[in-house]
Amino acid sequence: MTQNLILSAVFIAPEIKRFNIHAPLIAKKCKPGQFVIIRKSATGERIPMTIVDSDAEEGSITLIVQGVGKSTREINQLETGDTIRDLVGPLGTPSEIEHFGNVVVIGGGVGTAVSFPQAKALKEAGNTVTAIIGARTKSLVILEEEMRQIVDEVLVCTDDGSYCSEGFVTGQLQELLASNHKIDYVLAVGPLPMMQAVAEITRPFGIKTVASLNSIMVDGTGMCGGCRVLIGEEMKFACVEGPEFDAHQVNFEVLMNRNQ
Ligand code: NAD
Ligand code: FES
Repeated sequence: MTQNLILSAVFIAPEIKRFNIHAPLIAKKCKPGQFVIIRKSATGERIPMTIVDSDAEEGSITLIVQGVGKSTREINQLETGDTIRDLVGPLGTPSEIEHFGNVVVIGGGVGTAVSFPQAKALKEAGNTVTAIIGARTKSLVILEEEMRQIVDEVLVCTDDGSYCSEGFVTGQLQELLASNHKIDYVLAVGPLPMMQAVAEITRPFGIKTVASLNSIMVDGTGMCGGCRVLIGEEMKFACVEGPEFDAHQVNFEVLMNRNQ
């Protein structure tokens, strides 16, 4: 079978497409939290994409692409049977998966896709996993059913109240804490202001909290410095030392400025 062949390409929400791609070597090696860099054409932009799922037997990986700019919209024009010009990976440091106890995995918008493999692995490691999924509106809620099949509890909220609870994911987290739900570990993936807000909520409780950082990446292998982030006093490269970092140590202001 052709390398990088798109086995299926389906829109799961407006501008959000799920791709199942033939990539046997990556499927065999990848671990939760790792990503690939894809390029649609020889002159195309290099786009980092978290590996949402993989099937080593079938030799396939799943990517979920949100069409937010020119390059991602072009990628989302690809259909079943097309091939992706370049696909490099797996890249990045795998997530820390261990038995923490009660775990809360928070996915904001398309960040839900990024949090999916960690939720699955954390459940398989014996944790009790609560997933919080947030989206601006009902049509943008993704992977709810898939998440329900792998974790203990799923809480869904929309900013406009068009589906399930009204409000941000942080409201759901605060409600859990207010109900004395014991939390040992939190993973947050989504927009930077969301991950920053999650970190500020868990900080006073001393709950270990990890954020997956979507810094700008070019080579993805530690060469260009494009993805540098300030963690405590130290400069780190998100592509090789991340993308996951202790959320209480991340300097979100510096990262937001760089991403702008
Ligand atoms: P969005 O702006 O629609 O927000 C999704 C949800 O996050 C909201 O519904 C809300 O629940 C929560 N949220 C947003 N702002 C918040 C705030 N200030 N405080 C508390 N909660 C807040 O998200 P989107 O358009 O789907 O975009 C997803 C974002 O995730 C993008 O910014 C993208 O860059 C980022 N992302 C991150 C990674 C990663 O690895 N960290 C990967 C993919 C995408
Ligand atoms: Fe170039 Fe990380 S993307 S160093």
